[in-house]
Amino acid sequence: MVDIKTWINQTNTNTSKTMNTIWSKYIQGAKTLYYSRKLRFDDKFASQYKALFDLDETKKLKILEIGCGSGALAGSLARWYPNAEIIAIDRDSEFIRFAKEHETGVSFMEADIVALPFTDESFDVVISNTVYEHIEPSAFYKEQLRILKPNGVCFVLSSRRGISVAPDCYAPNDFEKAFWEKVKQYDSSIDKYNVGKYYLNEAKLPAVMEQYGFKQIKTGYVAVILTPDNPDTTPEFARAIINADRYSAIESIESVVNSMSEHFSNQEISEMKHTINSKYDYRIKQYENNIKQWDTTVSIIMVMRGVKEI
Ligand SMILES: C[S@@+](CC[C@H](N)C(=O)[O-])C[C@H]1O[C@@H](n2cnc3c(N)ncnc32)[C@H](O)[C@@H]1O
Repeated sequence: MVDIKTWINQTNTNTSKTMNTIWSKYIQGAKTLYYSRKLRFDDKFASQYKALFDLDETKKLKILEIGCGSGALAGSLARWYPNAEIIAIDRDSEFIRFAKEHETGVSFMEADIVALPFTDESFDVVISNTVYEHIEPSAFYKEQLRILKPNGVCFVLSSRRGISVAPDCYAPNDFEKAFWEKVKQYDSSIDKYNVGKYYLNEAKLPAVMEQYGFKQIKTGYVAVILTPDNPDTTPEFARAIINADRYSAIESIESVVNSMSEHFSNQEISEMKHTINSKYDYRIKQYENNIKQWDTTVSIIMVMRGVKEI
């Protein structure tokens, strides 16, 4: 086990290690995660998150994000806590490459949550967003307890059931319906990679955090409301909402290509991408011409806070 600075240097110069791109290739692409999280952790929601985090900002906090994906939350933490030192890790090499290119003020590096390469009691805060549900809970909490200082704080953020109403122009046509029916026949990624295997409801989550050693547990919720047609949504933010969904739809086709290309022709793939882009272009035009659709997404983000008591 090395100290953090030595390890960052080693990671940045080690080009021989094998790449792991399972999540970004087969499950969710870098842009899907990045642009949806840029909205979820936009500065307009900062006061809601910071009230629940309840951190002492006068201290130079050392914060670790685990399973940071393509880095949007870590980037927001760097803006919200300018005195803090922020390190963010993920196992997926493509996410770490993307994060380094898109966010500043954070040290991003590849590492495994269940074998964190940090010394005991070296962080004030550890945080994750939509990660707990993919990792066996005793392994997930054990490492976080170990690397936290006494009285250190652990945050587990997760997306709960919200509201999602799409505009009529996103409705799938017969070609798209048939495409996704065919994907269903061959798709095994959810079982193969433990996606969502350890999901817990809002009552079980704090009980399990307590079971694995955390104290003073609190839960709270942030409402992230994304409605392009609302007058208080700026044009830039409205376009970002529409385009975040576009990235996600396009990258879901790319995941299909990566995992089962033998079942789809190039023509089917390019027709799917063309159909998707046309819909999002159309939605942008409707927005620009003030033809209101009132499509909306309300994400409820659960913030669970636990303390490592001495
Ligand atoms: C649903 S994504 C969430 C990513 C990011 N927190 C976000 O909200 O955009 C789950 C992330 O956990 C990462 N992950 C899963 N198991 C991991 C492990 N054992 N060690 C490190 N990262 C892991 C994946 O690579 C992926 O980036």
